[in-house]
Amino acid sequence: RPRVFSGIQPTADSFHLGNYLGALRSWVRMQDTHDCLYCVVDLHAITAGHEPKVLRQRTRVAAAQLLAIGIDPERSTLFVQSHVPAHAELAWVLGCITGFGEASRMTQFKDKAARQGAERASVGLFTYPVLMAADILLYRAAAVPVGEDQRQHLELSRDLAQRFNRDFGKTFVVPEAYIPTDTAKITDLQDPTSKMSKSSSTPNGIVELLDEPNRSAKRIRSAVTDTGREIVYDPEHKPGISNLLSIYSALAGESVAELEQRYEGHGYGDLKKDLGQVVADFTAPIRERTQAYLDDPAGLDKILAVGAEKARALADATLRQVYDRVGFLPAA
Ligand code: TYM
Repeated sequence: RPRVFSGIQPTADSFHLGNYLGALRSWVRMQDTHDCLYCVVDLHAITAGHEPKVLRQRTRVAAAQLLAIGIDPERSTLFVQSHVPAHAELAWVLGCITGFGEASRMTQFKDKAARQGAERASVGLFTYPVLMAADILLYRAAAVPVGEDQRQHLELSRDLAQRFNRDFGKTFVVPEAYIPTDTAKITDLQDPTSKMSKSSSTPNGIVELLDEPNRSAKRIRSAVTDTGREIVYDPEHKPGISNLLSIYSALAGESVAELEQRYEGHGYGDLKKDLGQVVADFTAPIRERTQAYLDDPAGLDKILAVGAEKARALADATLRQVYDRVGFLPAA
């Protein structure tokens, strides 16, 4: 079975619909066809300032949510990044074959650094994509399910794999991004031209998986829609309605064309009311199951311990080979 790796940051109290439809839904599905490793990337979560207690709690909540949406620890390896030291170790080596200019071109870094101020942005934020490459390459993953916003980081991972293989001998698999065609970029409900994001300035613009279902339905009902009245998919001219149609289609398993037909002659309000219900029905059981996992912290920690052990075995083997190839003296 081809290998899959992906990661998600524990930087919010809940995942949101963008995370789910852009990436996590693929994570769940790929378990049927691939050998999957899924990681809560806590090392990535300290690049822009954090509260230790909050991070620890969010890491647990993140793992519980992944189990709740259907990541099956019997079939997949679910673990926490800081439990496998090889991630940070490989990141150092890869950082030494990454150009400063190359890293400087990462748009996500440029955006975040611009927001924080260039002086305040950390070196960790700058080298973040190198650590992400290490995550993927350690497991020789062939496919990486992510949303559109990670495409450029995936390109860097591919470049680094190819460069290392060329300079030191074939070691890494060159990974492919696996990005959904229909839901690669879910947008903010209040600002449908920018992506739904945990750092959104409009909290009403995101739908959290763990939010109270009624509140999620209300956020959908108060989504900003476009001028005009027709319910048609047209991302350029009708970004608001198109976003709602994408979400609806993905969650209800109906095509956008079917939805357009069903809502012909109806107003935006009808669509939003129905979608609000669809979203509430979708998130309610996830919220319950997440809570059940959190109510058994020992059980949760056990799952993560088993995952970390499996991941360490794979990661250590790759790291040993890398250390040998770059010429480090074996420890006697
Ligand atoms: P993160 O934690 O920001 O987001 C997790 C996943 O959700 C996707 N996503 C979206 N997809 C569609 N629409 C949106 N509005 C939306 N918002 C977020 C992201 O693309 C991502 O797939 N750098 C990564 C974490 C990471 C990683 C890795 C991923 C670290 N190492 C190795 C893959 C492989 C990140 O910040 O994702």
